[in-house]
Amino acid sequence: MPAILTKKITLNNGVEMPMIGYGTYLVTDQAKGLAAITHAINYGYQLIDTADIYHNHQLVREAIKNSNQPRENLFITTKIWITNKNPEIVKADIDRILAELGTDYLDLVLVHWPLPDGVMIYQTLEEIYQTGKIRAIGVSNFMIDQLKTLLEQTTIVPVVNQVELHPQLPLLELQEFCQKHNIVLESWQTIMKGKVSDLPYLQTLAAKYNVDAPAIALKWALQRGIIVIPKSETLTRIESNVQQLENFELSAEEITAINDLGPTLRLGPDPYHFVG
Ligand SMILES: NC(=O)c1ccc[n+]([C@@H]2O[C@H](COP(=O)([O-])OP(=O)(O)OC[C@H]3O[C@@H](n4cnc5c(N)ncnc54)[C@H](OP(=O)(O)O)[C@@H]3O)[C@@H](O)[C@H]2O)c1
Repeated sequence: MPAILTKKITLNNGVEMPMIGYGTYLVTDQAKGLAAITHAINYGYQLIDTADIYHNHQLVREAIKNSNQPRENLFITTKIWITNKNPEIVKADIDRILAELGTDYLDLVLVHWPLPDGVMIYQTLEEIYQTGKIRAIGVSNFMIDQLKTLLEQTTIVPVVNQVELHPQLPLLELQEFCQKHNIVLESWQTIMKGKVSDLPYLQTLAAKYNVDAPAIALKWALQRGIIVIPKSETLTRIESNVQQLENFELSAEEITAINDLGPTLRLGPDPYHFVG
């Protein structure tokens, strides 16, 4: 297993979270998906990123069962969807998700999007956190104003904010805000679904370090202290997306140059308007 897969960050409640994980959005095919998640776990990925809306908890459960790792060696993140919720529904969601995943605890549960009911869902997660069913709670897709509102109305500071973040969306101000509040940033679509390979500066760095452009994007985020969760169902990429990260470091100037790359591009929905 590449040593980099054992790299962890300590969250604001003392829980340790792996810095590199396996993303499972759209991993739903019974055969291909199961083989991919199982391969990722056997290769050494410890963090598995899923969500209620991905409809693959049972696949993750089967992959864990098939794999060479016990549940306690893994860190499972899931996310609560945001529409048609009230506290009782959120509590029932957690119990159902525990059953779907075949586990009696979740390592991290995030509110998937801030709107329409993000604060109420988070307040319910705060209650469930006290029961021990969840080791850590956090948010996803919260921008600065939305975090401010959440912090005003809740008592537990989120451990993580998982957001779209990549070379064309570096979110430097959000990172500064999160650092001030002890919230770790986690990046989704760090490799822009492979499109980072079209960016000339990333191609230049890839040639310099003898890796591919996705590896440059992942390394850039990791060196900024940001957790990454690339997704692949291609067995060779599941390995190379990690293995390539071991043998090079970007310089401070190169990290700044990627931060300044532009033009800003958002691949997913705008968190200030997305309502599910
Ligand atoms: N919180 C949120 O709202 C949110 C939103 C989106 C995603 N996420 C999480 O973040 C994870 C990552 O995001 P994502 O899956 O949308 O996108 P991604 O990781 O940026 O890209 C995945 C796509 O890139 C391809 N790929 C993987 N490695 C590659 C490589 N080395 N070269 C070229 N192409 C490569 C994959 O193809 P193959 O599978 O065919 O290899 C797949 O089509 C998700 O799986 C999910 O867990 C969270």
